[in-house]
Amino acid sequence: MALLAWKEEYSVKIREIDEQHKKLVALINELNDAMSQGQAKAALENILGRLVSYAATHFANEERLMQTHGYPGFPEHKEKHEKMTAKVLSLQQEYRQGKMSLSIDVMSFLKNWLDKHILGTDMAYSGFLISKGVK
Ligand SMILES: [Fe+2]
Ligand SMILES: [Fe+2]
Repeated sequence: MALLAWKEEYSVKIREIDEQHKKLVALINELNDAMSQGQAKAALENILGRLVSYAATHFANEERLMQTHGYPGFPEHKEKHEKMTAKVLSLQQEYRQGKMSLSIDVMSFLKNWLDKHILGTDMAYSGFLISKGVK
């Protein structure tokens, strides 16, 4: 069963961003499924790598949009992305080095972070960017 399900409530009403969030949800689910099926470390590393890299692409996209349109909450938002990036990079490194294993706790951390970030931090730019003509 999927760990995280897309819900309409997640929509920031900007098509490109919604698509990216859906892809992040899908990658978290893929990682969770592979973990719970006990797939090999190499397979998990591959999915984790794709998640880390897609998150970076997504954060950069969002930041570009916010900056282009002069979103006032940009600095704080960018800082949240940076903290999460540092956190997942360190998880990735610890996992590679065998210092930690992917667990239900790690998966709930990823799931809860994305859920809270979309519903709070991302949702906060929605009206502003839409008013600037972003769709
Ligand atoms: Fe964000
Ligand atoms: Fe986002």
